[in-house]
Amino acid sequence: MEHLFCQRSIIKMSHTNSKDDFRLPTFRVDSDGGLSPEALRSWQGAGCLVIENFCDEHARRELIWAADSIVAQFDMTDRDAIFSTQTHEHARNKYFETSGDKIRCFFEENALNQNGDLLVPKEQSINKIGHALHDLHPVFERFSYQPRIARLMQELGIDDPRLLQSMFIFKQPGIGGEVNWHQDGSFLYTSPPSVTGLWFALEDATLETGCLWALPGKHTRGLRSRFLRVNGELIMEDSLSPPNFDEDQGVPLEVPAGSLIIIHGALPHYSAPNRSQKSRYAYTLHAISGTAVYPEDNWLQRGQDLPLRRLTPISR
Ligand code: FE2
Repeated sequence: MEHLFCQRSIIKMSHTNSKDDFRLPTFRVDSDGGLSPEALRSWQGAGCLVIENFCDEHARRELIWAADSIVAQFDMTDRDAIFSTQTHEHARNKYFETSGDKIRCFFEENALNQNGDLLVPKEQSINKIGHALHDLHPVFERFSYQPRIARLMQELGIDDPRLLQSMFIFKQPGIGGEVNWHQDGSFLYTSPPSVTGLWFALEDATLETGCLWALPGKHTRGLRSRFLRVNGELIMEDSLSPPNFDEDQGVPLEVPAGSLIIIHGALPHYSAPNRSQKSRYAYTLHAISGTAVYPEDNWLQRGQDLPLRRLTPISR
């Protein structure tokens, strides 16, 4: 049992998983992305922040249309795109390793049989698209570099914020895969730590469709592991602190379409499989500080042709 300071009240969090037992407070940003002092206090206490009505319906539809178009043009002969968050087998796959500066589609693990034949329609077979949508696709670029997001990063104190990674996550009906408990800083490590995740709900995210879960307040305990390249192989290197995530204290973050969830790089979070007949589309961005050191042994590397760009309004 523990308590979390928030704007409206002290929120009681228990280890039961009843969705009625706990809610993180929700906030709004002003028209240029500014946050209230209450929102900033909640962010500092919880390591995550739920902002309602960040994306309007037009923006959501445009992102979904753009993702659907990419899938429609995806060359289905590439069977190396199988993505598994359970085993990290994908890590040994060059298709994944070299996707940091490209737009690539990754299959749901259960979308193909052992021979690589599709078990579901093509448009329901993709787990995610990654990892440089924000720099290579005009629709995602326009959304990602909007002034409100730049201001938000400024409000959260990220020095010289740069967009490092983007993903469109489908969480397909019936086969949308689980994402194990993890900290984003394990995968996008910087020194000092700076990675911050932005998770935009393009559809309702519910317990039924596999919403995010998190451990509010546990972002202060450091990183449990690091995913890095050693002798040409990507491995997960564990540290002893913290030894576990206290996963039974997880809090579901059910949010309606249009919400934004901001996630501290050391906050443990997770999402369950989607066994429902609805999809649960989301778009995610990860920003880092341009003043932090980005190690050469991180999995995500970008070629010199695509340097990281500052998160400020772009002129057109
Ligand atoms: Fe994550």
